[in-house]
Amino acid sequence: MLERYGHGGDLLTASEAFGHPADKFLDFSSNMNPLGPPSAVEQIMLTHWRDIVKYPDPDVRELRSKLSHKYDIPAESILVGNGAAELIDLVVKLLKPSVTGLCRPSFSEYEEAVHQAGGRIHSIPLQAEHSFILRSEDLISSYDSCDLLFLGHPNNPTGQLIPRQVIEELVSSGKRVVLDEAFMDFIPDEREHSMIKLAAVNKDVFVIRSMTKFYSVPGIRLGFIVAHPDWIRKLKAMQVQWSVNYLAQLIGCAVLDDADYERKSREWLAVEAPWLANELTKLGLRVTNSDVNFLLFSFPEELRLTVKEVQREMGLKGILIRDASLFEGLHDRYCRVAVRLRADNVQLVSELRGMLSDHQNKLLSGHYAGQEDEPLERVFHDRQVDSEQPERLENGTGLNINDMSKRGNLRES
Ligand SMILES: Cc1ncc(COP(=O)(O)O)c(C=O)c1O
Repeated sequence: MLERYGHGGDLLTASEAFGHPADKFLDFSSNMNPLGPPSAVEQIMLTHWRDIVKYPDPDVRELRSKLSHKYDIPAESILVGNGAAELIDLVVKLLKPSVTGLCRPSFSEYEEAVHQAGGRIHSIPLQAEHSFILRSEDLISSYDSCDLLFLGHPNNPTGQLIPRQVIEELVSSGKRVVLDEAFMDFIPDEREHSMIKLAAVNKDVFVIRSMTKFYSVPGIRLGFIVAHPDWIRKLKAMQVQWSVNYLAQLIGCAVLDDADYERKSREWLAVEAPWLANELTKLGLRVTNSDVNFLLFSFPEELRLTVKEVQREMGLKGILIRDASLFEGLHDRYCRVAVRLRADNVQLVSELRGMLSDHQNKLLSGHYAGQEDEPLERVFHDRQVDSEQPERLENGTGLNINDMSKRGNLRES
């Protein structure tokens, strides 16, 4: 499958699967700021490459000091890491929870970290009929059964912030809470929602931030965690020395100064996210409200289409979308796409429109008649083998539709 390593944005796997060069895809499967890295990043790469002969600052002092200034919290409450991913892993290793409450669906690395630390999961199902927004009543059973709650704020893949009142209940519950605010920078009034300031002083609250999404530098790896200084010292002691490389530290400092980039990014999103949500809705797709730069939607049941089938069709056209059915709690018609620049979004909508109308026409004309008992992916497989690039179906990438059909009838919802 395309998410062979559990995430979107795997261009090499996509290239093996769909036969296009890795750098030629229009990638809606990972949620980066489409404005690209701020201009300072290029300058740093060009002018500082020789400095990699030196070790980076093991205490990441300059960046911590900048973050401390930006968020008005003590530098002693901040630990910088090699992406938020490192800090998710570290904080779970530190807290060693026996039972962790996780929303379903949510980012898979939380579960991964809990299992690696030998803990168990308590599922907190989010309901489609409540737009996947976490409600107080969803949490009641967790307060008794969990010793840690690990929550996305906003949550991935649903794109929803935790409502203010629920956050307040959470942080006064006496439970330990880790809030992953990896996408918080995309929220225009982030200071109204972020729990960073509380995490700096409260021993039960931890906030993780990523710098890779908003500043579009996933390849450089950069994130930070905010917690009480006692916890930060312990986390630091567990972290691999020089975990944050020299260029990442410089880039982190430079991008924080770029207020113009911040403004432009938020202006772009304020226009583009509602536009794309509206266009997808017009195609008959069920789009979940989102506070951030990605949209979760599902294909209506009557279309008899699974996201895996759509992902494949789109991949062959050079467009990558995220199979959101891989998130526990979502059925096989759920898809997630990043919001990109207008021209790319237009192309996505247009390809989806073409594909859906082609599929609908075939359904209406009885094209699939007599194949009712066949899984639909079988139907698609026959069509592909009849008409095009059979070698791509046998490339051993896990995207082989024969493999997909082994996992069951994809019409199941
Ligand atoms: C919700 C969430 N948290 C954390 C991360 C990891 O981010 P980073 O690139 O900073 O490791 C991701 C990456 O996709 C994510 O979606």
